[in-house]
Formats: sequence, C-alpha cells, structure tokens
Amino acid sequence: MKILIVGNGARESALGVKLQQDKRVSKIFFAHGNATTETIGQNYYEDDIISLRNLAIQENIDLTIVGPEAPLVNGIVDEFRKNDLQIFGATARCAELEGSKAYSKKFMQTYNIKTAKAEVFDAYHEAMDYVKTHSYPLVIKASGLAGGKGVVVCEDILEANATIHKFMIDRIYGDAGIQLVIEEYLVGYEVSIIAFSNGKKLFPCIPAKDYKKAGNGEKGPNTGGMGSAAPSPEWTPENQADFEKNILEPTIAGLQDKNLNFRGFIFFGLMVTPKGCYLLEYNMRLGDPETQVLMALLENNLIDTITSCLNGEDIQLKFSDKKAVCLVMCSGGYPQNYETGFEIRGLDKVENSTLLFAGATQEPKKIVTSGGRVLSLVATGDTFDEARKKVYNDALPIKFDYAYYRTDIGKF
Ligand code: AMP
Ligand code: GLY
Repeated sequence: MKILIVGNGARESALGVKLQQDKRVSKIFFAHGNATTETIGQNYYEDDIISLRNLAIQENIDLTIVGPEAPLVNGIVDEFRKNDLQIFGATARCAELEGSKAYSKKFMQTYNIKTAKAEVFDAYHEAMDYVKTHSYPLVIKASGLAGGKGVVVCEDILEANATIHKFMIDRIYGDAGIQLVIEEYLVGYEVSIIAFSNGKKLFPCIPAKDYKKAGNGEKGPNTGGMGSAAPSPEWTPENQADFEKNILEPTIAGLQDKNLNFRGFIFFGLMVTPKGCYLLEYNMRLGDPETQVLMALLENNLIDTITSCLNGEDIQLKFSDKKAVCLVMCSGGYPQNYETGFEIRGLDKVENSTLLFAGATQEPKKIVTSGGRVLSLVATGDTFDEARKKVYNDALPIKFDYAYYRTDIGKF
C-alpha cells in the first residue's frame, strides 16, 4: 500500500511511525513533512490541493490522511473524492464546524449540545453594546481560523473594547475577525477527545490532556501545545457518561440531521467544570500533540480502522492500559518571535522515547530547527511518572540554541 499524509508536524510524524509498523505499507509520502518523515518516507514539497491530487493519481496512493485544518477547509477531501481517491478527513462543508466558530456555536445551540452561553456578532457597534452590560471575565473569539490565537479572555470592558476593535476594525486576523462569538467564561480543566467517524457514528478515543500554555503551571500565552498526556488523569466515568449523553450523542444527531456525513476525525475540546462537561470547540481533525500520545497507546491497526470507517463499518477501538506522555521541545520565544536554523545535537542519545520531529529540517549533514515547535519526545510507562522520567531524561542531551520546554508535563 502507498499512503499520503498531509501535514508537517509531530502529529504527522506520529502517524507515519504508526503506519510504518504495518508490513503492507510499501511507501509513505508526506506533504510536506519534516526531518522524521524524510527518514520513514518521502517528503513532497508542493502542498496545494491540485498538486496533491495529481500526486495521488500518479503514484497510485491507496489512502490519504489529512493532519491540519487548512486543506480540509479548502476542500481537499471533496477534490480527492471527485477523483475516486480514498481519503480520510472532513469535507469542506463539515470542516466549517472548525473553520467558523459562529457556525459551530449555532450548531451546538440547535442540537442542545452542552456549551457556554454565547452570542454571535456581525456588527461592530452591536458587539460593543453587548459587552457594556455583560459580566466579566468574558471570552471573545474571532469566528474564523486564526492559528489558535483568536480567543481572548477579557477581564474588563476596556479589554473587551480593545479586543473587538482589533478583531473587527484593525482586522489583525484578517477576515477571521469579521464575525465574533462572545461567550461566558467557564472555569475548569480541559480535556481533548478525538473520535473516528464512519459517516454514521462516532467512535471516541480515550481522553487526552493538552498542555496549552507556554509556561509551567499553565502560565503565559496559549501555544499549539507544549505537551500531552493520555489517558487524561482527571477524567472520571461520570465525566464520560456526561460527555456521551450531552455532547457526543447530540453531535451525532446534529451531523445526521444536517447531512454532514464525513469519514474522518472529529476533535471535541472540552472544559470540565463543577457543572459537568462543556464543549468549547470542534476541530475536524486530529489534535497535535494529542495524536502523539494516542498513537503510542492505540492497539488497533490504523489502516484497518480507517478502512472500516471509510466503508461505513463499526469499529472497536482498543488502547493499552499504559500511560503516555509527550514533551514538546520548542524554539525559545515561541509562540511569539523566535529564530530558526540552529543545529540540533545529541539526537543519538535518545534511548527510551520516540523522537518525532516537527519544525526541524534535514540538511545534508545535520538537522536544523525550522519552526516554533521543533520536536516531540513520547514515552509510555505503567505510571505517568515512569513515562515522564523517560521523556525528560531523553530531552536532557538534546541541544540547540535557545531550546525551551516546560518541566511539568505529565506532573498534573
Ligand atoms: P477554542 O479555540 O474555542 O477552543 O479556545 C481556545 C482556548 O481558549 C481553549 O482551549 C480554552 O483554553 C480557552 N477558552 C475558550 N472558550 C472558553 C470559555 N468559554 N471559558 C474559558 N476558557 C475558554
Ligand atoms: N492540541 C489542540 C489542537 O490540535 O488544536
């Protein structure tokens, strides 16, 4: 089998490592990949949808898996399907559940999916009027895709006014800020649940924890994720029952009612509060760095699981009883300003973790940093402590200029 994986993060490296274990896989293409994917497959440096479709036809690709949101929102699945190419991911219409927070909030409200109370605004003055009387803190979200930066928790009316102005008038995130979602602030802890869809039903994986903030103790700016752990340690059977009844099942009903029958991944970003689980957002894809820990624990064969979903068949997911921890090493300054192009040394000293590159490029004689999140180290153990020790011991010898990582991943 020939596989194409779209994306270039450690998430795509994790998919590649999992698929590489399958003897039926003869070749994996990555668009456009990184220093890990180059060693387990072939990187392909065009990433527009038409070039990828042509590659899939020319190379007789048997299955394509899409990592990031942009190609989904831009219709890669629709284009591949038109050409009878097997692809696992949401169609453009389904990807709107991630691409438009206004649309997804309306979907949640229509189908009684437990979520924060919110209003959608298209007009600047109406949003400004609304925040005059609302209690604080409140959360202002740019509706469109803003690279995870379009959400601001506002402590007072001054911050709310400034945020609305930046989003709607200054357009700091372009068209993403034309429409806003303004919602109540929820207090709790966050959990990510990713499910496989077979077009009719959703099959959730075990819950994972994403460490979103740049600094220890969840301090500092939001990032793409500084580490992850699975299964999410705080999650209880009561949380699972609440999630299934008030979020998962009404989502399945809503997808059916709206004819949004996709075969791909759906990600539930949850806030667990004293009043139960609330849905913060859908992502119509795998999470990064959640995928790194889920792939380390998933016992099913990934190709068989995806093929069953593509055929509309039910699946039974099986995860190991072990605990998994993923530590992200990044370029100092991430998620704001950072420099790249630094040689990464000490990589041969990694002993007990799986090393997955993200923003790292293979040059003729060395591997250099090329992004904010440079690499992930993933390990499993009987306890979180054991898995944690493995990734931190392996991080120690890895050196590059301005390297930075949190020291509390997997500690809780
Ligand atoms: P979102 O892209 O909607 O998931 O928001 C990004 C992040 O902002 C979430 O992961 C939360 O950390 C935070 N957030 C979003 N909505 C809320 C809310 N209603 N209350 C508290 N925090 C929130
Ligand atoms: N880890 C959250 C995301 O992938 O969006």
